[in-house]
Amino acid sequence: MYRTHHCGELRVSDVGKTVTLSGWVQKARDLGGMTFVDLRDRYGITQLVFNMETNEGLCKRARELGREFVIQIVGAVAERSNKNNKIETGDIEILVDELNVLNAAKLPPFTIEDDTDGGDELRMKYRYLDIRRRPVRNNLVLRHKLAFEVRRYMDTQGFIEVETPVLIKSTPEGARDFIVPSRMNQGQFYALPQSPQVFKQLLMVGGMDRYFQIVKCFRDEDLRADRQPEFTQIDCEMSFVEQEDIINTFEGLTKHLFKEVRKIELGGDFPRMSYADAITYYGSDKPDIRFDMRFVELTNDVKGNNFSVLDNAEYVVGIAAPESSEYTRKQLDQLTEFVKKPQIGATGLIYIKVNTDGTCKSSVDKYYTPDDLARIAKKMNAKSGDLILILAGNKAKTQSAMCELRLEMGSQLGLRDKNIFAPLWVVDFPLLEWDEDSKRFFAMHHPFTSPKIEDFELLKSDPANVRANAYDLVINGVEIGGGSIRIHNDELQQQMFDVLGFTREEAESQFGFLMNAFKYGAPPHGGVAFGFDRLVSMFAGLDSIRDVIAFPKNNAGKDVMIDSPSFIDKKQLDELGIGIVK
Ligand code: AMO
Repeated sequence: MYRTHHCGELRVSDVGKTVTLSGWVQKARDLGGMTFVDLRDRYGITQLVFNMETNEGLCKRARELGREFVIQIVGAVAERSNKNNKIETGDIEILVDELNVLNAAKLPPFTIEDDTDGGDELRMKYRYLDIRRRPVRNNLVLRHKLAFEVRRYMDTQGFIEVETPVLIKSTPEGARDFIVPSRMNQGQFYALPQSPQVFKQLLMVGGMDRYFQIVKCFRDEDLRADRQPEFTQIDCEMSFVEQEDIINTFEGLTKHLFKEVRKIELGGDFPRMSYADAITYYGSDKPDIRFDMRFVELTNDVKGNNFSVLDNAEYVVGIAAPESSEYTRKQLDQLTEFVKKPQIGATGLIYIKVNTDGTCKSSVDKYYTPDDLARIAKKMNAKSGDLILILAGNKAKTQSAMCELRLEMGSQLGLRDKNIFAPLWVVDFPLLEWDEDSKRFFAMHHPFTSPKIEDFELLKSDPANVRANAYDLVINGVEIGGGSIRIHNDELQQQMFDVLGFTREEAESQFGFLMNAFKYGAPPHGGVAFGFDRLVSMFAGLDSIRDVIAFPKNNAGKDVMIDSPSFIDKKQLDELGIGIVK
């Protein structure tokens, strides 16, 4: 038997027991006639004591143990004179009688401590050592708890977990597909699913009624902190439902997870906001509503003072940041640098300080009288002590730049507390999105999303203004999930493909199976998918989903530990009938 207890288990009530423990040597300290070893496993750390006086041979062997050696010991549990209240086993120690080295270890390339000296790439290369660190391990435990609670809740709601295939045909979700060559059908390829979208709809045609799956999805897109090429969704679909039914069910899931895993009651209904309002007031379809600082459009309030930047601007917008009128010249210059970064894209920043004595001071005093500034401040509903920040230019670009500036101010002012959660349903998304480059409409969500019945007529005459039965769950400015009510009628689905510019042949070859299924009695249905990695990282208070994935890819889409992607040998390529073009 390798162990009678694990390393996080023993307490004062166990004093006197003889125990066997196994684990890794976290560290060893020699103090005079004693050697202390911290023994670690997944559950915690237990202090071992070797005594030179009572057992010199054993103590000498203990002094030869290196970091990360795997050992087994037998000893007696004793109460510590010098207690350590930082660890759960801190009241006891083990007086060791037997030591067995199960495996020696090379010196690890970084310290296996909570605060390690290992950089990101190094930790990824030796991820199995990184996973021994408590913060990483805790994230994986949290991930397990969340997955477990998802399954528990979905089961109580009558959902059935059904696995769907991974080698499929391309489904259009907006990103590029990962492609897998077929050896048995040379020249033909599978695609890895960007989501199980079409299969879950087919399960509804198959009468499964309520489906869910915790499932891997694959998208070949540019990576960011909240994007991985393979990621996990909590994917769901329901039959005979309207938008309201789906929102209620998944609001229930979200509340259940917060209650069970974070012990947080998210009371009341989650607020809802139309896509149009989200863009108008926050410049984003995923507003962080932990704080206010809404946009106020000033386009027509700032014209006519011979200030060409604002006179000629298509759009002018301001936010009023609370208690910031004391911002120094340096801080304001830094904000200007921030908005001018290429990824933010503003040309400059205008400010108006609303001083505590009620007067205003601005960067455009040359053009605007104190009365003008007071009028703008009133329009902004600014209070004394506020700092008004104004951007101007092309509408869409300025909205997006102001969104970034608002978030930056929220962070600087400490208004984005990671322990406060502000969920929001964003609803009434446009069905279609115009792409200037290809001069055609794309489905904003995916081509199976149904338009709102009241906007049906516009599908031919004014497609840009058709709203979809689509909704996103946003928490703290992060898009946690998205879904829609689907089209369940083959004629409407065909009409949708027409608007999207698919020829009949293209639609038939790509989605013939779906439209055919719709001819055999498809129930009205809809669904949603949550980004599971994003949810876990939010629960863990982290910014990057990489930290909650056991073996993530880096920003170049590589797994540096197993060295993937990698070249394959010629024989394998020949079998697949593939030649590499240099
Ligand atoms: P959507 O494309 O909105 O919808 O994806 C659902 C959720 O998945 C998460 N997500 C990602 N997480 C990590 N890395 C990525 N690369 C990534 N891409 C998406 C987001 C997102 O909200 N089939 C539809 C769902 C439906 O209509 O039911 C779909 O996949 O949190």
